[in-house]
Amino acid sequence: MKVIQLYYKKQAHLKALESFPGPPPHWLYGNIPQITSHREELNIMLNWAEKYPYAYPRWFGGFLCFLIVNHPDYAKAIFGRGGKGLLILNGPKWHQHRRLLTPAFHYDILKPYVAKIADSTKVMLDKWEKLIAQNPTKSLEMFEHISLMTLDSIMKCAFSYKSNCQTERELNYYVKAVSDLTYLAFKRITSGSFRSDLLYLCTSSGRRFKEACMLAHLHTEKVIEERKKSLQNERELEKIQQKRHLDFLDILLCAKDENGVGLSDEDLRAEVDTFMFEGHDTTASGISWLLYSMAQQPEHQERCREEIKDILEDREDIQWDDLSKMTYITMCIKESLRLYPPVPGVSRQMSKPITFFDGRTLPKDSMVAISIHSIHRNPTVWKDPEIFDPTRFSAENSSRRHPHAFIPFAAGSRNCIGQQFAMNEMKIALALILLHFEIFPDPANPPFPVPQLVLKSETGIHLFLKKLK
Ligand code: HEM
Repeated sequence: MKVIQLYYKKQAHLKALESFPGPPPHWLYGNIPQITSHREELNIMLNWAEKYPYAYPRWFGGFLCFLIVNHPDYAKAIFGRGGKGLLILNGPKWHQHRRLLTPAFHYDILKPYVAKIADSTKVMLDKWEKLIAQNPTKSLEMFEHISLMTLDSIMKCAFSYKSNCQTERELNYYVKAVSDLTYLAFKRITSGSFRSDLLYLCTSSGRRFKEACMLAHLHTEKVIEERKKSLQNERELEKIQQKRHLDFLDILLCAKDENGVGLSDEDLRAEVDTFMFEGHDTTASGISWLLYSMAQQPEHQERCREEIKDILEDREDIQWDDLSKMTYITMCIKESLRLYPPVPGVSRQMSKPITFFDGRTLPKDSMVAISIHSIHRNPTVWKDPEIFDPTRFSAENSSRRHPHAFIPFAAGSRNCIGQQFAMNEMKIALALILLHFEIFPDPANPPFPVPQLVLKSETGIHLFLKKLK
């Protein structure tokens, strides 16, 4: 994983930040002391967003400052401007990779994934059935099961790799490594204390980070090696295509630029890592919070169940054409992504100076973080933002809203390349789960949303399931 670039105090930046009032920072700890507990973080940020409309500076330690954006007009200006991501590729290399990856999300490639996602979901449903039969009075922690399911599913779809990770526990080291990496990377950014890699690697968190990276890489290298071998044996891509659909890994391994040069081993591994990570942790968060929302809202849950029954009639299996008919389900998914955005915020280092609509400016190299979570709950944009109301996403209501008011997949040229895949996966998983189970909350074990790189719950997401049929 790429090391995070940190921001040094510069006079021009400090001067620009003067026009943005914000919570007063401690000279050494920044605004961290105001965040007394991790589970309070999102609420404190919402309070700040209300107090400082549009944007405010947030200090992480005494040296690192981000302008936190909480309004669609400001988000629009930033997404429309070029900027470096902090954990991702930049510049021409990003452009080249984005071009190489785009065909992997073509309609024809996504179509056969429906059956693969459904297979992975069914493995999870079987597991749940056994677990609730063994202990009907115990709630189930969803995030862990769903992470394994989405990992299984992304490996099948993007790499045609049957890991059996849901049933054979041996692969769990990878899921554990990914979850350690997100937690540790987030802790490192927000503590603001370790700018030097060398110093960081001497701490216990740094050593854990290194070990988790090693384990995650071990897994990706194994996947790539196996495919390289099989491509060597097959020689030509067409022969493979006759046997199975091309997947993401085929496209990456065979991608060549104008000069006939392919991706280096290191670039290849970085892309596979991004996919494995982006492609399963985010959707696991999305589906887990969606189930939580459905458990809280029995009437919407029932309406979604009725919709899927009407679409399928006597069929058991979901097909590609069914997905576009899931109108109410899609509205509920969007409302859940609004309240619980799996990626709660994105950061940019501005490659050019920027002037906002109100005349305030930021110089080149400024660090900004768009708080997707705060924008999605901004009361000047959303009426009663805390209330779950899928009708906000009817075609009519959506068309009246600011185009940057709902941005779970970010916006602009660096938006999420996997959003169609993600929406499909969420629809298939929800539809199959609701056909098989009724979902109830577990009031004794409420979730506490915490913004790690991905939105998780500090206490897990515990729900009761009742088998239908
Ligand atoms: C509900 C699920 C998902 C959400 C909410 C989500 C959200 C996002 C967001 C907000 C970004 C922008 C990050 C930034 O600007 O720093 C992003 C980028 C990206 N996402 Fe997703 N994502 C999801 C699922 C997926 C899936 C399933 C895949 C792949 C199969 C994927 C692949 C990517 C990639 C490769 C990028 C980087 C794009 C670029 O830099 O050009 N995402 N995603």
